[in-house]
Amino acid sequence: MRADLERIRQAALADLERCEDEAALDQTRLRYLGRKGELTAVLRGMREVAAAERPAMGELANAVKTAVEERLGALRRRLADARQAKSLAEERLDVTLPGIRSAHGHLHPLTQVLDQITSIFAEMGFGVETGPEVEDDYHNFEALNIPRDHPARDMHDTFFVAEDRVLRTHTSPVQIRVMESRQPPLRVIAPGVVYRHDDDVTHSPNFLQVEGFFVDEAVTFGDLKGVLSEFVHAFFGPRIPLRFRPSFFPFTEPSAEVDIGCVMCAASGVLPDGSPCRVCKRSGWLEILGSGMIDPNVFRFVGYDPEKFSGFAFGLGVERLAMLKHGIGDIRLFYENDLRFLRQF
Ligand code: PHE
Repeated sequence: MRADLERIRQAALADLERCEDEAALDQTRLRYLGRKGELTAVLRGMREVAAAERPAMGELANAVKTAVEERLGALRRRLADARQAKSLAEERLDVTLPGIRSAHGHLHPLTQVLDQITSIFAEMGFGVETGPEVEDDYHNFEALNIPRDHPARDMHDTFFVAEDRVLRTHTSPVQIRVMESRQPPLRVIAPGVVYRHDDDVTHSPNFLQVEGFFVDEAVTFGDLKGVLSEFVHAFFGPRIPLRFRPSFFPFTEPSAEVDIGCVMCAASGVLPDGSPCRVCKRSGWLEILGSGMIDPNVFRFVGYDPEKFSGFAFGLGVERLAMLKHGIGDIRLFYENDLRFLRQF
């Protein structure tokens, strides 16, 4: 038995040295120390050993077992250390590597233009109000002096949500809502989305308008001209010419459309290369907004005394102003979110 135990010690230790991974170590352990292992088998023969020799034999068997287990533990630790060293080497942090820059966005060009418009009017004392985009017939038309079946409704290619409800075709209903809830003096601009059944390179089915109105005692057409001239010069530059052209809106009387000198051809109608300017159709002028003195009928709808109060109102298209300012020929570029376009602003 002593010889058997010595042989097992030699063989087990030799086998352990050949193990290359943990699985092999486990197998070797099973082969010698497992329940069906070689050492266990030899110990079963202990009964046949003479009683006097048994303690010495037991001691030897334990020593073999301990030797094998100790060697096994040492080899396990060595494997684990090697694994850790390898992963430390592979995952080493290079703290001198440059960082990853986060991408910075910026405001959409339409938002920038809208902010600019808002701040120019804010300097003249106008505050900002808003109203609903789904509007009732009364606020979008009726109270703005556009009765049912009036031909002026044809000017608005209206999207209907229900019999009596529309996607607002302009921001003018905000005039009504503000006047219904407040008393003059009022100096208000109302920016927001409006909807019309219209779609080509200069028209989108939804676009941004800024409504503006000023109501007080003794507001005149001169005030209208002053405020709008101030705005145009602040927005497009002090040398841009503008003109007021007679027009018609049911909710203003008299009404005027404001034209500015064409920014593409310097108001000449002809481009530098001698070709006709297509933006202003050779007229040298571009329409930028509608305006007028608020019709006394509108004041009656909101319960203001038209003998006491007067006021002016205007509505301008934000995309149109942005296109003219930046020389953009296609309104759809604003909505496509192509970064090559957006990054230019
Ligand atoms: N609401 C008019 C439109 O959308 C613009 C306008 C507003 C005209 C206020 C006069 C006064 O065409």
